[in-house]
Amino acid sequence: MTTIGLVQQKGGVGKTTIATNLAATLQSRGYSALLVDADPQGTARDWAAKSEDIGLTTVGVDRPVVHEELPSIEGFDVAIVDAVGKLEKMTISVIKASDLALVPIQPSAADLWAVGQVIDHIESRQEITGGKPEARFVISRAIASSTMTDQVQEILNEAPFERLETEVNQRVAYARALGDGKSIHETSDAKAKKEINDITDELEQILQTHGQRRPQS
Ligand SMILES: Nc1ncnc2c1ncn2[C@@H]1O[C@H](COP(=O)(O)OP(=O)(O)O)[C@@H](O)[C@H]1O
Ligand SMILES: [Mg+2]
Repeated sequence: MTTIGLVQQKGGVGKTTIATNLAATLQSRGYSALLVDADPQGTARDWAAKSEDIGLTTVGVDRPVVHEELPSIEGFDVAIVDAVGKLEKMTISVIKASDLALVPIQPSAADLWAVGQVIDHIESRQEITGGKPEARFVISRAIASSTMTDQVQEILNEAPFERLETEVNQRVAYARALGDGKSIHETSDAKAKKEINDITDELEQILQTHGQRRPQS
């Protein structure tokens, strides 16, 4: 099983939005996907409870034991872990559990100090393990046609890992889908669907470098 963790100690950056859509998209592509809600607020669980038709298995983990418990779960190709919006033991546990840490970053957020700490934690972990987890930023909640602030650009340039090419824009469909227990594919927003499909394509490439085979269709 390959594990992708959505980590960022700042709340409201789109972790749960990306986690739910990624899990649903991978599932629809034939992977057996597990959605792990590692945020005691339980937004991903609430979403999953409304989204039974998507057929995703969801587990909630409320203590920082994700890295201890995930390896013993069998029967899934990929686990998508939605982490808590605070830098606490839970975030570190999710970083430890992940093969790939995905760090959503808003292109114009003022409180960017938060990101630095997550980057530091990922880097320390990589030093201990010899490179795991791999990591990528994903620009989230971007406002179309507005440019990235210099501050954000600087962080991205200096950071020890790359960002995904695809950005998630700010779109009403994402907010509605999360509240309605839907995936973006059940909405009529074609641009949003394309973003999620493109991100999933990029991640599938990375999963393959981890030996994760594509499901046969
Ligand atoms: N790309 C987006 N476009 C519109 N609304 C978004 C987007 N991403 C997140 N939101 C909304 O912002 C709020 C916080 O998003 P969420 O995914 O829960 O962030 P986090 O898990 O990082 O706290 C939610 O109400 C969600 O619907
Ligand atoms: Mg969340």
